[in-house]
Amino acid sequence: MTGAGGGIGAAVAGALHRNGASVVLVDLKLSDVDAVADRLGPDRVLLVHADVTKREQLDAAIAATIDTFGRLDIVFANAGISSGPAALTIRSAEDGVFERVIGVNLLGVWNTVRAALPHILGSGGYVLVTSSTYAYLNGLVNAPYAASKAAVEQIGRALRTELSGTGASAGVLYPGWVATPIADIAFGGDAIATSLVSRAFPGFLRRPITPEKLSRAVVRGVGRRAPRIQVPGRWIPVSWLRGMVNPVSDFILEHDSEVTRLTAELDRRAR
Ligand SMILES: NC(=O)c1ccc[n+]([C@@H]2O[C@H](COP(=O)([O-])OP(=O)(O)OC[C@H]3O[C@@H](n4cnc5c(N)ncnc54)[C@H](O)[C@@H]3O)[C@@H](O)[C@H]2O)c1
Repeated sequence: MTGAGGGIGAAVAGALHRNGASVVLVDLKLSDVDAVADRLGPDRVLLVHADVTKREQLDAAIAATIDTFGRLDIVFANAGISSGPAALTIRSAEDGVFERVIGVNLLGVWNTVRAALPHILGSGGYVLVTSSTYAYLNGLVNAPYAASKAAVEQIGRALRTELSGTGASAGVLYPGWVATPIADIAFGGDAIATSLVSRAFPGFLRRPITPEKLSRAVVRGVGRRAPRIQVPGRWIPVSWLRGMVNPVSDFILEHDSEVTRLTAELDRRAR
């Protein structure tokens, strides 16, 4: 699994490991993933330092996995980044932000999936890609991230269909807000983003869940080779009804004077 040193990756690694899986912890930041490995102990754990934007590093991670455990049954393409500690508009974003976010969140998933697929096909295994509720929500002041997650959803859906009949399978993970550093921006890390999120979403959708709660849903979803894992479940109706909800919510956001004011304030702040 990639992004294993982060909040979600660490919790899922722990949960899968407790359920008897051998886990390969792949991350860019060795210190974070070291701490996760320490918690899991020496048995059935392999630690690999790799940057998901570099295909050759993922090929090496897969080779190390096969060397150590002899097979690969589940791939969790999970590493991801936000566009930074502050919200941005498409107009005010610094050059390079879009490329950086797409590089990790989308190309990183592509690289991970492509490197792993020959072995997943061989084992009749399962690929899980981490998207987000941002795959279908309006991505205002977070467009690079939302665009990357919508694209990851497409990879997961297409892959599942393409793998039908092979014995292997794939699914998409759609976390809502989870209490990890990536979500800080919407919960006080950036005052304008926090105000926008509370304006745009009702309270019950805004409550972040713990990575541990998410990890339990992932273990269940991996067990049944789920097409979609949506946590917390309160987002499921929004996802089902997205064809109707989205035009209405887009209209409301476009005509909400407070949203317009806060977005303009973001643009002013960036100047
Ligand atoms: N936290 C949330 O609210 C939330 C919601 C929806 C989706 N997600 C997604 O879940 C995934 C995990 O996020 P998290 O909340 O655990 O965040 P996190 O920041 O705690 O963890 C992300 C991990 O990815 C690693 N990483 C970043 N760039 C990398 C690279 N180039 N190569 C290898 N590893 C790299 C980081 O070192 C970190 O350990 C991300 O894809 C994120 O977009 C998170």
